Amino acid sequence: MTRGVLIAPSILGADPLSVGAAIDSLAGGYDWLHLDVMDGHFVRNLSFGPDMAKALRRRYPEAFLDVHLMLDNPDAFSAAFVRAGASQIAVHAEAEPQLLYGRLLKIREAGARAGVVLAPATTVEQVRFVLPVADIVLVMSVTPGFGGQPPIESALEKVRDLVRLRSVENYRYLIQMDGGIKLENAARTAAAGADVLVVGSALFGSPDPAGYIARIKEEIHKS
Ligand code: DX5
Ligand code: ZN
Repeated sequence: MTRGVLIAPSILGADPLSVGAAIDSLAGGYDWLHLDVMDGHFVRNLSFGPDMAKALRRRYPEAFLDVHLMLDNPDAFSAAFVRAGASQIAVHAEAEPQLLYGRLLKIREAGARAGVVLAPATTVEQVRFVLPVADIVLVMSVTPGFGGQPPIESALEKVRDLVRLRSVENYRYLIQMDGGIKLENAARTAAAGADVLVVGSALFGSPDPAGYIARIKEEIHKS
């Protein structure tokens, strides 16, 4: 299978003291840069804010900045991330689901691509109402909040459901998988139908991160 799968390194997996050097070690071999934004409340961790997106945009003017907001109140920050240079913003379905549809529209009006994130306890059925306006559907294969966790197998089933729905309904979203992806399971995840793979700790923990992405792409290509 030769379908082009995109690789989105999660900078959360990089040494916080040298994020720029970690990105440079990829030698441009990535497709998107994935930013995990955490508020310490929606998830039990804190990360970074719009200034990180701004700094990345300044240093990597052509990069696709893929922002994953793990926030109770994404409305307080989505416009600031768009102004900072975010290319795409995905918000969690579990944060005030009654506001989700309008949230996606607002992000698109502000000038970025918009999407929805499903934490492991959320079903595809629960987000069906926003699929017509989603540019991305991010399926989390770990509990949101931390890198380095093993993936939950059932997330692949959601990916397969999303592929089916997209073809039946003619939706346009890309399907992204986030959590525990590494060389050993990337091809299987891609084969289930994921279009974009987030890779954090496995990638930045590797002695040769640029080679690691190349090997993931090879594995996908072979399968
Ligand atoms: C978890 C984050 C993930 C994480 C992926 O809340 O959304 O993006 O950084 O990291 P790994 O690849 O280490 O699971
Ligand atoms: Zn993420």
